[in-house]
Amino acid sequence: MTTKSAALMLTCFLQLCIVNGQVICERQMTVEWRVEPKPSVIKWTPRENVCSDFYTECWNMNKTITGEISEEQYVNIPQICPLQLQLGDSLFIASEPSFQSYGMNLVNVSKEEFINCPKAGFLQEQLIFVCQIRGLHQVNSNWLGVGTHYFAELHMRGPLLCNMGLRLNVTVKQQFCQQSPNTPLCSGHGKCLSHVWEKEYNCHCFSQYSGRFCQKIDVCSTKPCHNNASCTEKSERSEDSYECMCPPKFSGKNCTEIVGQCQPHACFNGNCSNVTPNSFLCECDKGFT
Ligand SMILES: *[C@@H]1O[C@H](CO)[C@@H](O)[C@H](O)[C@H]1NC(C)=O
Ligand SMILES: *[C@@H]1O[C@H](CO)[C@@H](O)[C@H](O)[C@H]1NC(C)=O
Ligand SMILES: *[C@@H]1O[C@H](CO)[C@@H](O)[C@H](O)[C@H]1NC(C)=O
Ligand SMILES: *[C@@H]1O[C@H](CO)[C@@H](O)[C@H](O)[C@H]1NC(C)=O
Ligand SMILES: *[C@@H]1O[C@H](CO)[C@@H](O)[C@H](O)[C@H]1NC(C)=O
Ligand SMILES: *[C@@H]1O[C@H](CO)[C@@H](O)[C@H](O)[C@H]1NC(C)=O
Repeated sequence: MTTKSAALMLTCFLQLCIVNGQVICERQMTVEWRVEPKPSVIKWTPRENVCSDFYTECWNMNKTITGEISEEQYVNIPQICPLQLQLGDSLFIASEPSFQSYGMNLVNVSKEEFINCPKAGFLQEQLIFVCQIRGLHQVNSNWLGVGTHYFAELHMRGPLLCNMGLRLNVTVKQQFCQQSPNTPLCSGHGKCLSHVWEKEYNCHCFSQYSGRFCQKIDVCSTKPCHNNASCTEKSERSEDSYECMCPPKFSGKNCTEIVGQCQPHACFNGNCSNVTPNSFLCECDKGFT
């Protein structure tokens, strides 16, 4: 293809891009770890899924409620909707047939190059696919280690397509939710979650459970001690591994029993039961009153 026809084709695409509306990327603020890895397919075209505003479009959140992250504030970079993957997920890049003749190269770049779109060339080892993109390509897992990766479209004719949005921010997260490989996530007592800005998945325990893997039972959180007694946990992990420190006049495991006036033989022919700390009642045997 001649340079002239390639330039003509690109002008066509530019026009198509201009008619695009605002893209708001689909996103959940907090994601639960999937047990099964999942494939993602990214359409490598500036005509779809190119967002610009960092917060409102690319991360689908209100500027006012974030505040957790300041570095990227007000950055306006047209890009393919940023992606977050689990370690082990697969990633496919699908090119658009009409772009194939123009020739595209997907390159692993630094954050600065992602932001500015490199004007100069690139090294062979930065190329994600040895050949130019045609059809569907799977990104080798070498490129998808834990962390944030930046991929950009580079072309000998310049950074035009990259500037139009052919660049991708991919963050790969791992989980720290299992005590050992064969145990259930969060010991089955919590959810393995990651917030958008967190770098990994961690356990969020159900009430009563604590510990990095929700392996500990917080028996005291169920308030087993009554009558204002204080609760302390004992080290062993079982349902009744707690101790209640009873206030005066109460006793029992849960401080529910009243310490009263029933002395041995308080009732001659019958059973004694405490009613309040200061009074008792005789339940008389048959024939006695
Ligand atoms: C953002 O703000 C608008 C209006 O204040 C509100 O309706 C919307 O629910 C908010 N979105 C999020 C994700 O908080
Ligand atoms: C991708 O590029 C970054 C920044 O230049 C570099 O630190 C990283 O090692 C590269 N990744 C691979 C797998 O080569
Ligand atoms: C890339 O995405 C991560 C979150 O996955 C975010 O923290 C980071 O700021 C993004 N980088 C840029 C340059 O937008
Ligand atoms: C103490 O309370 C727990 C539940 O909170 C209950 O299972 C247990 O039976 C109670 N023990 C006594 C001695 O009342
Ligand atoms: C527990 O203590 C609070 C104040 O510390 C008091 O108001 C309340 O009556 C007490 N409850 C019992 C059952 O003793
Ligand atoms: C007194 O207690 C004994 C043993 O718990 C029981 O067998 C008996 O029926 C009780 N007597 C009365 C009058 O409740």
